[in-house]
Amino acid sequence: MTYRAIEWDNGVLRLIDQRKLPAETLYIDYTDYRAVAVAIREMVVRGAPAIGATAAYGLALAARSSTTPDVAALRRDLEIAAGVLRGSRPTAVNLFTAINQVMARAADTGLTTPDALREAVLTEAHAVADAEVQANRQIGLNALPLVPDPATIIHHCNTGALATVDYGTALGVIRAAHEHGKRVQVLVDETRPRLQGARLTSWELKQLGIPHRVIADGASGHFMRTEGVDLCVVGCDRVAANGDTANKIGTYNLAVVAHENGVPFYVVGPTTTIDMNTPTGDDIEIEERPAEEVTHIRGQQITPDGIDVGNPAFDVTPARYITAIITERGIVYPPFEENLREIMHADQGRQPG
Ligand code: MRU
Repeated sequence: MTYRAIEWDNGVLRLIDQRKLPAETLYIDYTDYRAVAVAIREMVVRGAPAIGATAAYGLALAARSSTTPDVAALRRDLEIAAGVLRGSRPTAVNLFTAINQVMARAADTGLTTPDALREAVLTEAHAVADAEVQANRQIGLNALPLVPDPATIIHHCNTGALATVDYGTALGVIRAAHEHGKRVQVLVDETRPRLQGARLTSWELKQLGIPHRVIADGASGHFMRTEGVDLCVVGCDRVAANGDTANKIGTYNLAVVAHENGVPFYVVGPTTTIDMNTPTGDDIEIEERPAEEVTHIRGQQITPDGIDVGNPAFDVTPARYITAIITERGIVYPPFEENLREIMHADQGRQPG
C-alpha cells in the first residue's frame, strides 16, 4: 500500500479525499480543526476508527492554532474544539472515545505550560492512531481460525486501511487470511448509497491482489443460495452492551439473509467501538444523511423531482443474528451481554471466558 488515509506531517493533518476515490487520489491538508469537522461530516474521511483518529488530530490542530499564553485559556479553547468535532457525526462511538481520551490527557494538571499541553495533546493523538493500527493487526491474527481455506467471504461497506488508520478491521481479517496463504475470494457489497464497497473496498482489494467480485447489495442472498458463502464479515460503528451492532446501512439485511442460509456472520472491530454505556441498539443514534446521496449519483439525478427520501446512514443488527464479535482482545461469542462485559474489563491480550 502506498498511501495512509491519515497522516500528521509537521503541524499539518493530511487526509486522502475518499469522496474522489478511486478516480482520483487527492490529498487535502488541514490546519484548522473546524475544517476537520467538516471533512468528517462530508466524508472526506470516514469509517469509525478513522474518524476517531482524525478528531484526535483535530484537537492537536486546535491546540497549535490557539496562541494564548495561558494554559487555562488553552484548555477552554480545546473544549470548544472538542464540542465542534463531537458534532460532526453521531453514530460511531470512536469519535467520542478518541476525543475523550485526548481531553483526559489535556486535563492533566501536571501540564502547566501551553507548550507542554500542546505537545501532550499531539502525543495522545498519535497514541490513538497507533493503537488502532496495532489492534487491527491483532484482530486479523485472532480471526485466522475462523476463515477456512479456501473461503468465499461477503464483506459490506469499507473497513480497510481507509476506514481505520492502516490495515483494516473486517478487511483486515480477509487481508490476514490472504497473507497467511489462504485462498480467499471476496464478494464485495457495493454499499449503496455512497458505494464504499464498489469504490473503496474494491480499490483496496485490487492493490492487495485479493480476488474479488463487486456485487449489488441485494445480490448477497442469491450468492449464498447458489454458490455457497463461508462467512460474512462486517465492521461496526457502535456495539451496544448487549451486542446489538450499528453499522453501515444494509448490514442488518445481510445478517438476516446470512442467518436464513446458515452462514456465520461476524462483526469485526476494535474494543474502542464497544460502548458499554449504550445498553441496546435502540439507544444508538442513527445518522440521517442528505437526500441527494440517494437521489443523485455523481451529481446526476436518478429519481423524479420532488420525491421524499429516507437515508439512514446506519442500521442496527440485533445481537441474535451475530455469530461472534472479533476484537483485538479475542473473539466474543454469545451471550454477548456477559462476554462483552468480561472482555471490556480484561487486560489486553486476555481471551474472555
Ligand atoms: O458512513 P461510513 O462510511 O463512515 O460508514 C462506515 C462503516 O459503517 C464501517 O463499516 C464502520 O465504520 C467500520 S470501519 C472499520
